[in-house]
Amino acid sequence: MNNKKGQKKIDIAPAKNGGSGFYSDVVKEHFFKPKNFMEDESGYKADGQGMVGSPACGDVMRVWIQVDDKSRRIKDLKWKTFGCASAIAATSMMSEMVTEKGGMTLEEARALRPQDITERLHGLPVRKIHCSVLGDKALRAAINDYYRKQGETDKVEVEAGRVIDKVLKITDQDIEEAVLDGAVTLEDVQRKTKVGTGDPSCIPEVEQLIRFYREKYFGAE
Ligand code: FES
Repeated sequence: MNNKKGQKKIDIAPAKNGGSGFYSDVVKEHFFKPKNFMEDESGYKADGQGMVGSPACGDVMRVWIQVDDKSRRIKDLKWKTFGCASAIAATSMMSEMVTEKGGMTLEEARALRPQDITERLHGLPVRKIHCSVLGDKALRAAINDYYRKQGETDKVEVEAGRVIDKVLKITDQDIEEAVLDGAVTLEDVQRKTKVGTGDPSCIPEVEQLIRFYREKYFGAE
């Protein structure tokens, strides 16, 4: 099914590929047999590494990459997490997508969207989308680490938060996390963040951001 912009919508509802229960068969396959899981980092020569935590649940994700300096393709990617089944399955799938067919270039990997991973997993439960983005956030941190180590700081992209509610100091990242945690409406986001209660003038921008993040992560119209 396509949305108004002609983009393919992802199935974020319970799986419909014949799997029983809440997770698709692809998710179960990657959860029970994770690909590229880091068993022992002590002997691994990483060209870049990244670590992120989830504000929604407190879980942590680490990613290591090896990069071919000439082609700037990712030759190998390993990961490790204390996250849940969705984080494990999504990162396992991401590791395959990044390294298959000779490996993505660093810029292709940076442009990988959470929706692309969720689509290959045949959907994830809505409440679990925040888990599925941990892997690609850690990957982007590892890519930045690689560029820093190469002395190419102009290629480092920092995802800094922009203050939206100046009274409560709530950033666009706080709204992003609320949407990833299942908020759909302004009221949902306000229950989680109280955004706009001290500074109502920011509400139109908050509503715009909710639409933007819903579209980004869920393909919502
Ligand atoms: S609940 Fe923390 S990663 Fe899924």
